[in-house]
Amino acid sequence: MSRKKQTINTDITSSRRDFLKSSIAAGGALVAGSAAARAESDPAITQVQDWARYLGDGVDAAPYGKPSEYEKHVIRRSVPWLTASTESSINFTPLHELDGIITPNGVCFERHHGGVAEVEPDKYRLMINGLVEKQLVFTMEDLMRFPRKNQINFLECAANSGMEWRGAQLNGCQFTHGMVHNVMYTGVPLRYLLEEAGLKTNAKWIMPEGGDSSGMNRSVPLFKALDDCLIAFKMNGEALRPEQGYPARLVVPGWEGNMWVKWIRRIEVGDMPWHAREETSKYTDLMENGKARRFTWEMDAKSVITNPSPQAPIKHKKGPTVLTGLAWSGRGTIPRVDITLDGGRNWHKARMDGPSLEKSLHRFYYEFDWNGEPLLLQSRAIDSTGYIQPTKDELRAARGVNSIYHNNGIQTWHVKKTGEVENVEVS
Ligand code: MTE
Ligand code: CO
Repeated sequence: MSRKKQTINTDITSSRRDFLKSSIAAGGALVAGSAAARAESDPAITQVQDWARYLGDGVDAAPYGKPSEYEKHVIRRSVPWLTASTESSINFTPLHELDGIITPNGVCFERHHGGVAEVEPDKYRLMINGLVEKQLVFTMEDLMRFPRKNQINFLECAANSGMEWRGAQLNGCQFTHGMVHNVMYTGVPLRYLLEEAGLKTNAKWIMPEGGDSSGMNRSVPLFKALDDCLIAFKMNGEALRPEQGYPARLVVPGWEGNMWVKWIRRIEVGDMPWHAREETSKYTDLMENGKARRFTWEMDAKSVITNPSPQAPIKHKKGPTVLTGLAWSGRGTIPRVDITLDGGRNWHKARMDGPSLEKSLHRFYYEFDWNGEPLLLQSRAIDSTGYIQPTKDELRAARGVNSIYHNNGIQTWHVKKTGEVENVEVS
């Protein structure tokens, strides 16, 4: 026991030492140098600031806390030409403003087919019918009496990066990759509810259906429903936000966001898939030979550099620079991310940091010394199954150019001498 403890301690110390060494190698001393000079003459240091001179607001000034007013720009944003009507639309998570792996509730991207349903929790009902021994209807109170589970999972819309299939288009990782969020869900394993209803022997599929005006539905194979799906009612510890399906939504870890039915009101159990609109005319991929891929449920491994990026340019002239980003896979964890600064000629291992959880976002960093010259930044995720994130050209060679969904190709950012960053492609 005590020996084990010691080993852990040594590991932490030595990895911290390595990290410090590498950041100094990357020019950490240079940062310390300019920071020391600043202390002599900076009015932010030499003058007493208002916040130190006067009393601040007392408790209760904000019974429900909000971010600092200096963080007002950290918001979900939409792309006007993608928004025909706001009730059937999308906005995007500001990935370039966030760090760590958890997406704060107020900035989780939204995708609605019929606007945000305002469901009264007292009138909320979840019905299970079809191929079951007894049809059941649960209230919220009923759901609260089942054992709960907590899990952190990413939700990625299958259309994330869809606008980039034919070439670089949108300037900002918020727009190219922001249809993803990563939240700690609390909920009841769907398995418990299905077992309560009793599955008939010919049960093979379920059809979750939304209580919003779109009544959105999808076919989910029973093996997945019985594996790791949740009926979730909390996100990051508090009630689901209305935009995310209050009071309850389906969580389908690692699978395309469209299946995560919000405001879920009914689950029908059947022996065949329903081939609903969202799995026929939508969420299928037309291939070069005229046939379409269907049931592309799992999200392939993907990554993106969130800083620097078009909305987060480099502001210093040269020297120590922190590159960071996110990586995820619908099939497991991300043990490794590679980084290139020169469009793929030389690759370096990124430093993974923070929890490495199944079907969750992972955070990576790469600290380097920028020489002030242009860069072509790329990240390449490798997941726990050994799958390597492909280039966009490799994807197009395999699937043609008619697709929208499941674009997990490697993203390139062009950093100019000025530090500005642009979305480009290299081939
Ligand atoms: N569920 C219902 N009932 N109605 C919807 O419009 N949109 C789906 C899915 N579940 C949708 C829904 C799509 S396409 C996605 S990508 C996710 O919800 C988005 O979840 P979010 O809004 O929490 O980000
Ligand atoms: Co979607």
